[in-house]
Amino acid sequence: MESKMRYMLLFVFIAILRFEDATGQLSLDPSDLLDVCIDSVNHKTKPGPEGDLYKQCSPWKNRSCCVHETTRNAHLTNLYGFEYDHCGAVKNMSKDCRRHFLQDLCFYECSPNIGPWVVKVSDMKIRKERYFQVPLCLSDCKAWFYACSGDYTCTDNWTRNFIWKDGQNTCPEGAKCRTFLEVFETAENFCRKVWDESWEPVPDEEPCMRLWFDGEKGNPNERVAQYHAYKIAAMGSGGDTIHPTISLLLLLTFLLTS
Ligand SMILES: *[C@@H]1O[C@H](CO)[C@@H](O)[C@H](O)[C@H]1NC(C)=O
Ligand SMILES: *[C@@H]1O[C@H](CO)[C@@H](O)[C@H](O)[C@H]1NC(C)=O
Ligand SMILES: *[C@@H]1O[C@H](CO)[C@@H](O)[C@H](O)[C@H]1NC(C)=O
Repeated sequence: MESKMRYMLLFVFIAILRFEDATGQLSLDPSDLLDVCIDSVNHKTKPGPEGDLYKQCSPWKNRSCCVHETTRNAHLTNLYGFEYDHCGAVKNMSKDCRRHFLQDLCFYECSPNIGPWVVKVSDMKIRKERYFQVPLCLSDCKAWFYACSGDYTCTDNWTRNFIWKDGQNTCPEGAKCRTFLEVFETAENFCRKVWDESWEPVPDEEPCMRLWFDGEKGNPNERVAQYHAYKIAAMGSGGDTIHPTISLLLLLTFLLTS
């Protein structure tokens, strides 16, 4: 993989800089963050190729954390019992909005590029890990929100605020069904809030994830994960700040790998 090569070269260079600096140690191996799936009920233990994936999940088939059955169920059933039509008494979710949520679900189930953002969760049955503040390209965020702006929901924090009854999410007591536009107001607020900060919308010019892409041309999110994995490793385990020169070199490397 050519882009990975560039990063590795850069990384050796950074390692030399840091060594001469004697400021610290490179304690994280970036490749540990680039070959992982989240620890959850449906995910494979490691990413790998799949013969075929269903519809909106098909772009991920060359390297994915999901299996065909999961992607089929994601389209044809309510995975985890989650009901997108929780305001069905007023209006069921439009097809266009649903398609965006399916792409979001495919990303959740299939993406092998979430390593740099994985965090542990302690209070959920369906998963031991989740991703947190994954950079989502603002144009994808906006397309998603505008497709849904005329659809209805009763709460902004879908991960946390629903009441679960008989394995299905229902609206909290007294919560009225209103349009996405009324509930969330802006695309940024929607993407950030709906899955409790799984996404962080960022300008398209920054390294950011795509929810839909042409799999034939490769997965554009690979290099985004590489950029962040190497950035985290360059910062070291202490969470210290990154040297501006290194920051710039990482960004240049990212731009060169497009
Ligand atoms: C939404 O879908 C459900 C089940 O498919 C149906 O019973 C209900 O009438 C629909 N709601 C509206 C407002 O059309
Ligand atoms: C979602 O709700 C939880 C629990 O109330 C809260 O801790 C969290 O901050 C909320 N997330 C967002 C993005 O508002
Ligand atoms: C998978 O990768 C192969 C070769 O790397 C490529 O020719 C093909 O178009 C890709 N297909 C999809 C759907 O990702």
